[in-house]
Amino acid sequence: MGIDVACGTFFDVCGIVGYLGDREALDIVISGLKRLEYRGYDSAGVALAADGAIEWRKKQGKIANLVGAIEDDPLPSATIGIGHTRWATHGAPTDANSHPHVARRIAIVHNGIIENHAPLRAELEAAGAEFTSETDSEVAAHLLESAVAGGAGLVDAMRQVVSRLEGAFTLVAIDAQDPDRIVAARRNSPLVVGVGDGEYFLASDVAAFIEHTRDAIELGQDQVVELTRDGVNVTTFDGAPAQTKAFHVDWDLQAAQKQGYDWFMRKEIFEQPHAVADTLLGRLNDNGELVLDEIRISPEELRRINKIVIVACGTAFYAGLVAKYAIEHWTRIPCEVEIASEFRYRDPIIDPMTLVVTISQSGETADTLMAIRHAREQHAKVIAICNTNGATIPRESDAVIYTHAGPEIGVASTKGFTTQLVACYLLGLYLAQVRGMKYGDEIAAVLGELERMPQEIQHLLDNQAPILELAEELKEEPSILFLGRHVGYPVALEGALKLKELAYIHAEGFPAGELKHGPIALVSQDLPMFVVVPPGGRDQLRDKVISNIAEVKARGARTIVLAEAGDEEARKHADHFIELPRISTLLQPLVAIVPLQLFACEVATLRGHDVDQPRNLAKSVTVE
Ligand code: F6R
Repeated sequence: MGIDVACGTFFDVCGIVGYLGDREALDIVISGLKRLEYRGYDSAGVALAADGAIEWRKKQGKIANLVGAIEDDPLPSATIGIGHTRWATHGAPTDANSHPHVARRIAIVHNGIIENHAPLRAELEAAGAEFTSETDSEVAAHLLESAVAGGAGLVDAMRQVVSRLEGAFTLVAIDAQDPDRIVAARRNSPLVVGVGDGEYFLASDVAAFIEHTRDAIELGQDQVVELTRDGVNVTTFDGAPAQTKAFHVDWDLQAAQKQGYDWFMRKEIFEQPHAVADTLLGRLNDNGELVLDEIRISPEELRRINKIVIVACGTAFYAGLVAKYAIEHWTRIPCEVEIASEFRYRDPIIDPMTLVVTISQSGETADTLMAIRHAREQHAKVIAICNTNGATIPRESDAVIYTHAGPEIGVASTKGFTTQLVACYLLGLYLAQVRGMKYGDEIAAVLGELERMPQEIQHLLDNQAPILELAEELKEEPSILFLGRHVGYPVALEGALKLKELAYIHAEGFPAGELKHGPIALVSQDLPMFVVVPPGGRDQLRDKVISNIAEVKARGARTIVLAEAGDEEARKHADHFIELPRISTLLQPLVAIVPLQLFACEVATLRGHDVDQPRNLAKSVTVE
């Protein structure tokens, strides 16, 4: 029988919830799991401590299956409970492999990988433990059970257990004989505490408890947290008191609901005007200078920087590609952009004069986190651009610029991307200001244009009808290409990624000028090609892209041209023309991506896919 690694070697995204208070734990845990379902939807389970026993249900598939199983076989009333929603990798996502895992009086849920599970399992089996699943997680249940059976309290038992585990984990445990306590431990895997009025919550993400409290505590690395009916106690793995940081979540339950939209993703696309405006808010002082409060790196240090390396994954990486053009142009500092999972393995040349900028919506992406750790070992300064307060990536960076997009629940990133772009522009302008590369009025001009973006994005959203019609027309296409040049190239890559991950249509983004060096062989009669045309009149960029469109059109492609209003020449080459507002070249991605997001969302909807939870994907990827 193969061993199933709890939540994966490549992806680890499970959602965890714990509740201790005076209300029905089952209701609170289930509603919390529903808000975390975006983290994984292969199976779900809950465990309660009631009347001196552990009672649990777990079920393969979405949380609805678990709810059905509980309706068929109800659970007793309890005020303490834990739950889990899982994204499986190796091995089948079966009922048995679902969490919680129960060993006599102990129930645990686990997120992460216990790398040394095999010898631990062999040792436990030799001592008589009976395993009921193929998971690595179950060893933690048996280890805890054996520690409490030996007389240890749950907190001490947790400390003993974590000292034996290798790998990444959030472990949350309850003990049937101690129904007033939940104990959790965290290493390299997310966990936050929610503090209500006489009730306490544990979750992978604040979304799980936001309807009950907005007061939270972030936990550090290698910490044990104990919830009792009297409060929260956080210690290190060695038992010493630990430093914690309380924070208030600045969004509410409404933000975590669909509010009449069919998908979170569509809602999040339509939230972009707000999200962009919020990310720009409060960045100027009374003298009109840009201030980035969170940057705890001194201007002197920023003046010494001689290279910038941007590190990120997926959509955030594409935001980084756009940032390179802006940062190099505004600051003249050489800027590289690297996929985080490649970064440390190529022994990158970084030193104390390098500024590493990481971009991550979730703030938990393991590849990006590992890149940060590598960069800091080389004494580089690290600035994180992140959307999640208290997440691991901002905590482990020297400084952070928060995007204020609110919760992004749709698995495909949308408002995450546009607010990352805004944060990158702000960083580029700030560096230009600090290093004296731009006059104040030049910076103010770009900021003024950025401030116009929410209304420009709104205008595009208000005029979405042609995109929806286009989606209807192209929904059966087996393959769609995206072309762009300069900052339009990352937009093409992002447009293609959205379509791949949501509609499961083969899609690729190319630099428009590169097409003739090979990919043009793909062009055939009626192949749909989106082309992002740069604004005209400023340099030759636009003219070159128009020539590139003519080249593919001559070979039979069906062209969908995104160009600024009034670009009649571009319109001539277009089978479909999507009007973009007049924006300067560097900022154009902020508007050009919006029709591509709408298109992918609509095609996926028309094809009958689950847009918020695309197959094989999950939201935050916390294992390399
Ligand atoms: C695609 C998408 C992913 C993420 C990537 C990084 O729509 O959402 O490509 O952008 O997994 O995630 P974060 O930004 O959380 O580090």
